Amino acid sequence: MTKLSVNINKVALIRNSRGENLPNLKQVAIDCESFGADGITVHPRPDERHVRYDDIPILKEVVKTEFNIEGYPNDRFIEMVLENKPHQVTLVPDPPGVLTSSQGWNIKENKSFLLEVIESFQDAGIRVSIFMNPDLEQISLAPEVKTDRIELYTGDFARNYAKNKEKAVEKHIESSKLAQNLKIGLNAGHDLNLENLRFYNEQVVDLQEVSIGHALISDALYYGLSNTIGMYKRLLTPIRS
Ligand code: PXP
Repeated sequence: MTKLSVNINKVALIRNSRGENLPNLKQVAIDCESFGADGITVHPRPDERHVRYDDIPILKEVVKTEFNIEGYPNDRFIEMVLENKPHQVTLVPDPPGVLTSSQGWNIKENKSFLLEVIESFQDAGIRVSIFMNPDLEQISLAPEVKTDRIELYTGDFARNYAKNKEKAVEKHIESSKLAQNLKIGLNAGHDLNLENLRFYNEQVVDLQEVSIGHALISDALYYGLSNTIGMYKRLLTPIRS
């Protein structure tokens, strides 16, 4: 079954808006796991506007499922990941001030850099995933940088879902089949929500993990965190005929 990793960046954003420790990120991570999350994702950005670098060791200590750290691999990020050894690191190609990650790596242009960084994480026993657009030409280059997994950027899929969901998912299906042929694991994320998640998961081949933050935390304002995690998990559970 596809795993649900809950991205808790938005919880940290609320905490940071008051400068105290409410909501308590560590407790939220513990509770997400007890409510059924299969993993916790954080994305410390260079300006630390949501999850901060000093949150990472605290979370590493309490996360018992899968801890996934996302980010652009600058020196500070690489050092922090190697120090904290999460189960998985997801590399994104974001420029420093970006609002959110909205595109995948150009492997052709970053091959030697990616290869070096990926190998250094793998040598430390950390699984590596790289953020990719559903672009067959780019994905076909993924074995050259020896990544364990790719994470497909689903923002465009989510935007086009209401217009024509079959068309919106087409490239993702092809990308998932290619990843399977290349024996590269598959994750996905960005703008997945209660409306589009089941369809996406049913269409894409062998999806191992989704990481969801913005919509899930927004839904939790109405349904509560425990119910919301349950709702997302049910969408990832195959319907028995
Ligand atoms: N994957 C990556 C690489 C991201 O940067 C983000 C946003 O932090 C997500 C997944 C989750 O996206 P969303 O918050 O829209 O669910």
